[in-house]
Amino acid sequence: MPIVVSSLNYTYMPGSTQEYKALTDISLTVRDGEFLGIIGHTGSGKSTFVQHLNGLIQPTSGTVSVDGFQMADKKQRIKGRALVGMVFQYPEYQLFEETVEKDIAFGPRNRGLSDKEISERVRESMELVGLQHETFREKSPFELSGGEKRRAALAGIIAMRPKYLVLDEPMAGLDPKGRKDILNTIRLLKKRTKCGIIMVSHSMDDIASEADRIAVFNGGRLERIGTPGEVFADSEALLKMGLDIPQVSRLALELRQRGVEVPEGLFKLEDMKDFLLRRLRRV
Ligand SMILES: Nc1ncnc2c1ncn2[C@@H]1O[C@H](COP(=O)(O)OP(=O)(O)O)[C@@H](O)[C@H]1O
Ligand SMILES: [Mg+2]
Repeated sequence: MPIVVSSLNYTYMPGSTQEYKALTDISLTVRDGEFLGIIGHTGSGKSTFVQHLNGLIQPTSGTVSVDGFQMADKKQRIKGRALVGMVFQYPEYQLFEETVEKDIAFGPRNRGLSDKEISERVRESMELVGLQHETFREKSPFELSGGEKRRAALAGIIAMRPKYLVLDEPMAGLDPKGRKDILNTIRLLKKRTKCGIIMVSHSMDDIASEADRIAVFNGGRLERIGTPGEVFADSEALLKMGLDIPQVSRLALELRQRGVEVPEGLFKLEDMKDFLLRRLRRV
């Protein structure tokens, strides 16, 4: 069953002088096992939106249901929330235990799982994030590099075996190696589990290569939603919204301006390479 968001509106501090309408009339469905990328300018409401998916904030109006559980209802929210793993921006600030292993075990322990089950989950999630169990389990989270800290935090969420994983700018502030490690983890997770992934990101190249569908937020509204092919086919609209586009789309635009007939919906490096090679052979 999916996550269904229906006519969602959200206003910060209603009735005060600082009242701010952050989300307007958002309706969308996150399908089982899909990778939904969320893009949009800073301040477009992406973080506000994803915090509704595990009931952390409640709509001012409209509804959110997770696999049929209504998130407005206190009892149902507990069940719905258990299905949604939430990785906030800079999750490493939430590491607090004395060892990496204890930190990752924290959530499963709180759920009352057996020691055997907990240690299996710790191993499994450390492997998924690429932190070798023997090397890292006894380390203090504070001894780790920035990228390792973030992967440890991610492992703590994965250990809860969520059905949906929400990642709010998971690569922000990391160096290229750190970014690649996180992206590899997300890829591996997608391959090994049936976890649905909802990822907010500014990296159009990552979103273009990973997402099944992309939701574009603009000024608190859902401007469009579709496959990467559909969304990046109108690269000019994205540029007008002040958004970046994948490097390949940028190249496609430039080639078109120079009179080369580049097919629509070409946004992946591999596809562009094939197209250019075919064309060069013709000349
Ligand atoms: N706690 C808050 N109180 C008041 N306004 C907020 C709060 N959090 C975010 N906002 C405002 O809501 C808008 C959307 O913010 P946010 O959801 O964080 O956007 P994004 O994640 O796309 O950058 C912004 O204009 C922001 O200033
Ligand atoms: Mg944000």
